[in-house]
Amino acid sequence: MFDHLNSLPADPILGLLATYRADENPNKIDLGVGVYKDEAGHTPVLQAVKQAETRLLQSEETKAYVGPAGTPGFNTAMQELVLGAGHPALVANRVRSAQTPGGCGALRVLAEFADRAKKGATIWVSDPTWANHVPLLGNAGLEIKSYPYYDRATSSLQFDAMVETLKNVGEGDLVLFHACCHNPCGADLTREQWHVLVEMAQKQGFTPFIDMAYQGFGDSLGDDAYGVRLMAESVPELLVAASCSKNFGLYRERVGMAMVVYNDAAAADKGQSQMLNVVRGNYSMPPNHGGAIVESILTDASLKANWEAELTEMRERINSLRSGVVESLAAAGAPGDFSFIQRQKGMFSFLGITPEQVQKLQQDYSIYMVDSSRISIAGLSQSNMEYFCQSVAEVLG
Ligand code: LMR
Repeated sequence: MFDHLNSLPADPILGLLATYRADENPNKIDLGVGVYKDEAGHTPVLQAVKQAETRLLQSEETKAYVGPAGTPGFNTAMQELVLGAGHPALVANRVRSAQTPGGCGALRVLAEFADRAKKGATIWVSDPTWANHVPLLGNAGLEIKSYPYYDRATSSLQFDAMVETLKNVGEGDLVLFHACCHNPCGADLTREQWHVLVEMAQKQGFTPFIDMAYQGFGDSLGDDAYGVRLMAESVPELLVAASCSKNFGLYRERVGMAMVVYNDAAAADKGQSQMLNVVRGNYSMPPNHGGAIVESILTDASLKANWEAELTEMRERINSLRSGVVESLAAAGAPGDFSFIQRQKGMFSFLGITPEQVQKLQQDYSIYMVDSSRISIAGLSQSNMEYFCQSVAEVLG
């Protein structure tokens, strides 16, 4: 039965990790997968997470099933983190959600949910977008089309072209936006641009679908949620996939939330029954441990303060690496203007070099990045910065 199956190439992002791990060069640098690293190259468990886990181990009394939505405490705390406590959509009882296995689980559940509402609905995604959006949304039945987003020639957002394409998108179509820290390009929408998109959604009737995988990695927890919060109070319906992988450092625990803002409370109750049915038919219910950690942090003032301080530290380190790499590339004599890296947000930027140059950096210098030249900034450090910048200068020179 399975003999005829062909083998597939490794995933373009996760596959890099295996090649990197097998590389014996002591100078190797991993700028591939989007995982935060500290100066020593480690991805530490946050202190707030450790404290929450210690408490959970002592207080947990049962491992009995929770249910397809996860716990109410997790959902309430996460809705408030994303929308802000007292948000008009929460007050109007228009919001429902489910804890999911990571942001990927949220994207998949929401895509299947949308497909139930309109079979084979079209979803517009940015060009470029995160590579895994395509299988996550497409395999659920949605038809994928793209709108222009990032201009590689100027290394910046091409908002006019984006608007030009989206102005023909109407009711029954979904449009996927990145809430902040765009993956892969790091070029984010300004507040004014969010307002333009909100007006378009109101006028044309398309349904916004926001992927929020990096809340807190751009400017702050609140600033990074500006677009989501604005959309949630301005449009009748909205889908949001939130991830706790990066901001809580819970990558392997798989914690996220699939959230829907509905027209009214009655539609919300009906819609939630469909969403929970999608969950039950996929994986029955989410794993509990990671969600319990998030709930415990968000519902305890002192743990929350510790977590926010750690999140700020991660964000500030990435931002200082962004300025550092711009300066060091110039000092190493790398041809071109890389100042856009400093203006961009979050874990990623495109270096803007060719796939052949990316290959050369990997083969000759053991520097690993995705073929598109996306670099995960947190993989840089004071100790590898010079080697990285000199290598880039040599390859480009
Ligand atoms: C990335 O883009 O590197 C991360 O979102 C991790 C992943 O699963 O691809």
